Amino acid sequence: MPENEYMLEVKHLKKWFRMGNAKIAKAGIRYLHACDDVSFNIKKGEIFGIIGESGSGKSTIGKCVLNLQDSDSGEIIFDGENIFGYTPKQMKPLRKDMQMVFQNPLASFNPKKRLGKTFEEYAKFLGMTDEQYKKKMKELLEYIKLSDDVLSRLPKELSGGQLQRLAIARAIMSEPKFVLADEPVSALDVSVQAQVLNLMIDLKEQLGQTMLFISHDLNVVRHLCDRVAVVYLGVIVETGTIDEVYSNVMHPYTQALISAKPKEHPLEQKEEIILKGDIPNAIDVPEGCRFASRCSRYKPGLCDHRTPKLKDMGSGHFVACHYPKGHNLDNEV
Ligand SMILES: Nc1ncnc2c1ncn2[C@@H]1O[C@H](COP(=O)(O)OP(=O)(O)O)[C@@H](O)[C@H]1O
Ligand SMILES: [Mg+2]
Repeated sequence: MPENEYMLEVKHLKKWFRMGNAKIAKAGIRYLHACDDVSFNIKKGEIFGIIGESGSGKSTIGKCVLNLQDSDSGEIIFDGENIFGYTPKQMKPLRKDMQMVFQNPLASFNPKKRLGKTFEEYAKFLGMTDEQYKKKMKELLEYIKLSDDVLSRLPKELSGGQLQRLAIARAIMSEPKFVLADEPVSALDVSVQAQVLNLMIDLKEQLGQTMLFISHDLNVVRHLCDRVAVVYLGVIVETGTIDEVYSNVMHPYTQALISAKPKEHPLEQKEEIILKGDIPNAIDVPEGCRFASRCSRYKPGLCDHRTPKLKDMGSGHFVACHYPKGHNLDNEV
């Protein structure tokens, strides 16, 4: 049998948060649609990006995929095994293969423990002998370009960038099949963001690390990812390879995100599309397109009555819009 091409397949994933307390609920239950019918897959050795504004549901998707958060329905197929609904006990043997790196590296380490102690204990947990641990730690430190004196320090004695590199080292210590990185550089100074991103690129190029990389920063995603999904209020609005999505952007939301990013050069010409208003909340979302209230190409009729589905536009590029850029789908339903 041929080896499965995908490390992760997410199908029709749904997570709605119930709003308010039981009394209010009696008057009518309201739900926040944090993740609505989200499907994507990640090939082995690929870095897949999820991008969107704050509150668009990126972290919810990540947490559901790792079963750190219950999902309502869908399928989560990890290396051929459907892990949807797995309990913490069922997830335990999979944890070493599904690792994560979060935004704030300080929160990832015990503040009272010297870092060496943390790593040693973790190595024991993974069943390594002292010798194996020492060899592995040496390898990891070379990899993250830190000297071994960091191991005698407490987390607060290191910079955010150094600590995030150690958080990445810990995530890959077990040689996981998959790493979720949720905004791993967002809390770092711009000057050290590049170091951490370059480390991520090394992980991919040298170790073939499969990764789900969540970010709100288009530059970062473009630099790092092979494919990307753009999310808005819990749904994927556009997805494809980085080259396709950036050079042939079709959804007005993606277009707005790209034009909102700072110019790389002061003389760069750019079509400015400013998003109207803040991201609305995803409670009791109406029929129609969720982006309609902020869309530059909104047309009454179709946009507020029919929910656009992801359509295959060729070259692995999918878009959920009634009027994608460069296409006239006015007559299509
Ligand atoms: N545990 C929770 N209970 C209720 N609402 C939540 C919870 N977690 C997230 N949300 C809501 O779900 C939406 C998506 O949040 P999140 O996934 O954190 O977005 P992002 O990571 O893109 O900023 C937001 O409106 C957020 O307030
Ligand atoms: Mg988040």
